[in-house]
Amino acid sequence: MLKSLVQQDPRIPRHVAIVMDGNGRWAKRRFMPRIFGHKHGVDALVRTVQACADRGIEYLTVFAFSSENWKRPNDEVSGLMSLVLVAVSKYLTKLEKEGVRIRIVGDRNAVSERVRSAWQQAENATAHNTRITLSVAFNYGGRWDIVQACRRALALGLRPEELDEARLNQFMALSHAPDPDLFIRTGGEMRISNFLLWQAAYSELVFTDCLWPEFGEAELDAALRSYASRERRFGGVPDAQPQALQA
Ligand code: IPE
Ligand code: IPE
Ligand code: MG
Repeated sequence: MLKSLVQQDPRIPRHVAIVMDGNGRWAKRRFMPRIFGHKHGVDALVRTVQACADRGIEYLTVFAFSSENWKRPNDEVSGLMSLVLVAVSKYLTKLEKEGVRIRIVGDRNAVSERVRSAWQQAENATAHNTRITLSVAFNYGGRWDIVQACRRALALGLRPEELDEARLNQFMALSHAPDPDLFIRTGGEMRISNFLLWQAAYSELVFTDCLWPEFGEAELDAALRSYASRERRFGGVPDAQPQALQA
């Protein structure tokens, strides 16, 4: 309640989105299997949730498994699915106590019953929390999101003229969050890889070479400093006064 009355510092993003990339390379450098990198990636995620909450960030959305990651070798995919179960049983209590509300965004139909119920457990156990919302994009793709939103709108029988950007947004997987202000990708690649195609229209982008298992407070603060120095114009002109109506 009090939180909503406090004026948010505009230099701190309300919503940070992260493509957590580089786990495989981090493991390879240590002559370890890729899943070793993913395990350390979970620890980096828990660290980052904590750091974001401490800095007053209200929403954190992370890309954990893309619609395209099914193309990976079977042992890596099944290792990632098992890791969901391990991560939920290891960290759910801690995150719940720290005021984290967990939401899963993505197509749940293709994942196993065990993974689905672990996600359901995480959502149910944290639904009452308000400090920070952690949205985990799992079996998520930006194109999938746009298509599923259109399908839901059509299924409701909306007429074409009833559909505008705000209405379609209500059907998108992240309708519970404002658009991301800051979009970070670790791992050195400078691409979106089908993450929040709709929602990131005006996000500030930060790409870092840091591999995800090494991400922590220092890298987050560097991205936040970069964000604070940006001028967001949303297509407008800086410091423009609204045009006075001509008589
Ligand atoms: C990101 O790390 C995690 C997932 C896609 C699940 P990667 O596994 O893509 O790591 P790199 O990019 O191969 O190093
Ligand atoms: C994006 O990373 C997906 C996640 C981090 C979950 P990828 O490693 O799958 O992306 P590409 O293949 O480099 O574009
Ligand atoms: Mg990658």
